[in-house]
Amino acid sequence: MCGIIAAASNRNVGKLLVQGLHKMEYRGYDSAGIALHQKDQIAHLRTLGKVKLLEEKMIQEKPKSKLGIAHTRWATHGEPSEENAHPHKSNERVYIVHNGIIENYLDLKDFLKKKNYSFLSQTDSELIAHMLDYFLNQGNSMLDSMYLTKDRLDGAYAIAAIDLEDDQNIIVARNKSPLLIGIGIEELLAASDPLALGQLTNEFIFLEDGDVAELSSDSYSIYDINKKKVEREISKIDISSQATSKGEYKHFMEKEIYEQPEAILNTIDGRVGGDDILENIFGLGSSEMFERVKRIQIVACGTSLHAGRVAANWFSSISELPTQIDYASEYRYRNPHVDEDSLFVTISQSGETADTLAALRYAKEKDYLSSLCICNVPTSSLARESDYSIFTNAGPEIGVASTKAFTTQLAALMLLALSIAKGRKKNPKLRTRVVTALRSLPDIIEETLKLKETIIELAPEVASKDNALFLGRGIFYPIAKEGALKLKEISYIHAEAYPAGELKHGPLALIDENMPVIALAPESEIAEKLISNLEEVKARGGTLYVFSDPTISMDVKSGKLIKMPKCDFLLTPIIYTIPLQILSYEVALLRGTDIDQPRNLAKSVTVE
Ligand code: M6R
Repeated sequence: MCGIIAAASNRNVGKLLVQGLHKMEYRGYDSAGIALHQKDQIAHLRTLGKVKLLEEKMIQEKPKSKLGIAHTRWATHGEPSEENAHPHKSNERVYIVHNGIIENYLDLKDFLKKKNYSFLSQTDSELIAHMLDYFLNQGNSMLDSMYLTKDRLDGAYAIAAIDLEDDQNIIVARNKSPLLIGIGIEELLAASDPLALGQLTNEFIFLEDGDVAELSSDSYSIYDINKKKVEREISKIDISSQATSKGEYKHFMEKEIYEQPEAILNTIDGRVGGDDILENIFGLGSSEMFERVKRIQIVACGTSLHAGRVAANWFSSISELPTQIDYASEYRYRNPHVDEDSLFVTISQSGETADTLAALRYAKEKDYLSSLCICNVPTSSLARESDYSIFTNAGPEIGVASTKAFTTQLAALMLLALSIAKGRKKNPKLRTRVVTALRSLPDIIEETLKLKETIIELAPEVASKDNALFLGRGIFYPIAKEGALKLKEISYIHAEAYPAGELKHGPLALIDENMPVIALAPESEIAEKLISNLEEVKARGGTLYVFSDPTISMDVKSGKLIKMPKCDFLLTPIIYTIPLQILSYEVALLRGTDIDQPRNLAKSVTVE
């Protein structure tokens, strides 16, 4: 959840470390800090709040250094405060930054207290600094001390550490938390996210679990879990600054909403050909594997789970397969029974979500036919650990609220439904229809984005309320859930979603003039039933905002009926998502919230 960065260079590193923190701020932003080696001392600056405040402190104090580590935090153990901000130190000698969770921290703290170490923070991370100091004082090198420390740590971590007595080297270590090395010009870097280093290099080494590495300005050495020196592959990735800047937009979320036509085009590009889906787009051998699939198990969190819920419907109607879907955080704890020839599918924008990764690792011990992930980050742990994968090609998503990642996940899941249907020789005509519809999707999204002005008009009504209800039926229920999640996470308005038919079984009691009801009414076999449900709302004084098919007419009294562009029914969930994203954005803008970095949240949830 936090972001860590480290640099050993021939130039001053303070500015580049802070710039890297800015790029990773979406991962956590309740406090930030930096430790800079200055030969005879280590400059240690920390601030509560956003990286900007640390930057201001740096401008005042102007610390110079060619070796340093820095951190932006999302609190797990201990409240957001300056004392709990990283880097943590031990005896003014060892300074560390840590991303992850140390599960056995209470036992280790007890051990260290008995060795006369005192703790200045409530974090689990501080003990890592003390543990390194403890082993260094016994005459071990920093490399050996890191291995001795690692041997005692249970949990997930990416660590970077510096030692006052060594102004040349940084030690980093990884276990179940992302960490990579960047090879710069006359400098070596490390970070938990390639975005942090995108301006500095395009050469990256993704460390593996158990790895420890030593970095200086002109060399690096990597050691594996058994302390054996290893070579790891260098990946060339171009992370352009354009992709990580807001350009003409006020917020990343806004930019990402309006990037969706291009993002969807990139998801389907090169994956459909003629009038069908192409072979092996999920990896070599995937088409053959799909012939055998008899059941699908989906596991994901948050918005990605909503994408899975929509896809479950497509797997049923297009691939003719049953699907089981679970919250990743729940899956392992329900004793899942695995049917023969079941495919295990994970969906994740980041590919680093701890619950989803843990579910995959658990599933790999079970009798699944194969594992497959839908992911936006090709270098992520999920992508590397799955048998098959497809990348959504949405480009970096910086806003914490997922927008283009969600719609591209839906497009990729549709590709999966089509591929499995093809493998199972099901529904060739339907496949052709959907492939044709997919090609026109970017244009229809472009048209849908033009609803912005209409939505801006109704945003003040929603922004002035404390609650909202989202309604959808069938394949639109998960879209209603996604609309509610978006609204609550960025505007802090309490929002719930229901299948419209459930209203009269309880939630109807909530309806009055203070409860705006946002409903999705595409043309479908149950459109009439949905309209009856909405009439029930109207009769009780609720204000209705209905996004509907052009053929549907209804009097919404004080609310608004907004006609949506026409689209193939199977793809309409993608289209109906767009106005809900715009509505949340415009409402949050009116309420003055921190849209890209909503309170208490983080982009990449790397703790369970
Ligand atoms: O990176 P992932 O897709 O695995 O993340 C899952 C959720 O944490 C994420 O979708 C979250 O719900 C978003 N903030 C929603 O906008």
